[in-house]
Amino acid sequence: MTDSITLRRPDDWHVHLRDGPMLAAVAPLTARAFGRAIVMPNLAPPVTTVQAATDYRERIKAASGAADFMPLMTCYLTDETDAAEVRLGFKEAVFTAVKLYPAGATTNSADGVTDMTRIAPVLETLQDIGMPLLVHGEVTDPDIDIFDREAVFIDRVLGPMLADFPALKVVFEHITTTQAVGFVRAGGPRLAATITPHHLIINRNAMFRGGIRPHMYCLPVAKREAHRLALLEAATSGEACFFLGTDSAPHGIAEKQSACGCAGIFSAASAIELYTHVFDREKALGQLEAFASKNGPAFYGLAENTDTITLTRQDWTVPEAIDAGAAGTVRPFMAGETLGWQLAD
Ligand code: NCD
Ligand code: ZN
Repeated sequence: MTDSITLRRPDDWHVHLRDGPMLAAVAPLTARAFGRAIVMPNLAPPVTTVQAATDYRERIKAASGAADFMPLMTCYLTDETDAAEVRLGFKEAVFTAVKLYPAGATTNSADGVTDMTRIAPVLETLQDIGMPLLVHGEVTDPDIDIFDREAVFIDRVLGPMLADFPALKVVFEHITTTQAVGFVRAGGPRLAATITPHHLIINRNAMFRGGIRPHMYCLPVAKREAHRLALLEAATSGEACFFLGTDSAPHGIAEKQSACGCAGIFSAASAIELYTHVFDREKALGQLEAFASKNGPAFYGLAENTDTITLTRQDWTVPEAIDAGAAGTVRPFMAGETLGWQLAD
């Protein structure tokens, strides 16, 4: 039995770090394991300009406590986004990607895109410069069942968009369905997907185990067991189109445990341990490095990290709570549960 595993340092290709006291609490947790992170721009107000992203990047670096942690910034796409701003952010090496939230799809997405025709000039530009579009892939039509919103998005939005912009590079973020797994596989080298630790571990029953479980609620919402199994198979396949993205999304306990609790599962405190635990359980530790450290940089056209991390087979209990000062207390995914792996110092 393998008792330790050393990996090229992984990156997190989708994380929410927030700002202020929450940023101060969570950034070091991401930086302890990951060399780089694609930072989501859904602050309030959202990160829509090169200047805002430059300033936010500095705040993240300062909060991370790790001199070599590199935040990779994203631009929040709205109906009004100016293609010239996107091009400038690319030229100045501030933006690594642009993020599409359909308006109203999730937390802080009210300013998102209401009409895909409005963003055609930006998509043309992305295609031209080779910068990826990151997609929150759910339709927002209230008539569509919440468990079907990702599959319907593929048919109504993503499929047509990929056909209209044949050279556009797209990351289908935090996929949750067999339909998405199949679609990404068939989509060739310009389409990829991130997969979260929680979607590899829970199915939708977890939200209702003995009562309502707000800390198991995120968007896209967890689906049936068959979908989880498809995600597990995809992540552990080693295929280049699937890579690590935690979608770690911290909210204070007060915001989660409320009459209208926020969507978001916080996994940064234990992310690499969770993935290692899952890959080990699947007897797929040999594919972990591809998923965590190689496929992401290859898709983004970036170099792999040069240093390594080591995990040891050792029982380790996920913390019950993370103190975020004025931003409240955050409950990590699988708080209080024991994982079989621990990141070595
Ligand atoms: C994210 C958040 O809280 O910012 N929530 C979530 O459930 N994943 C937003 C998002 O990525 O959808
Ligand atoms: Zn997210």
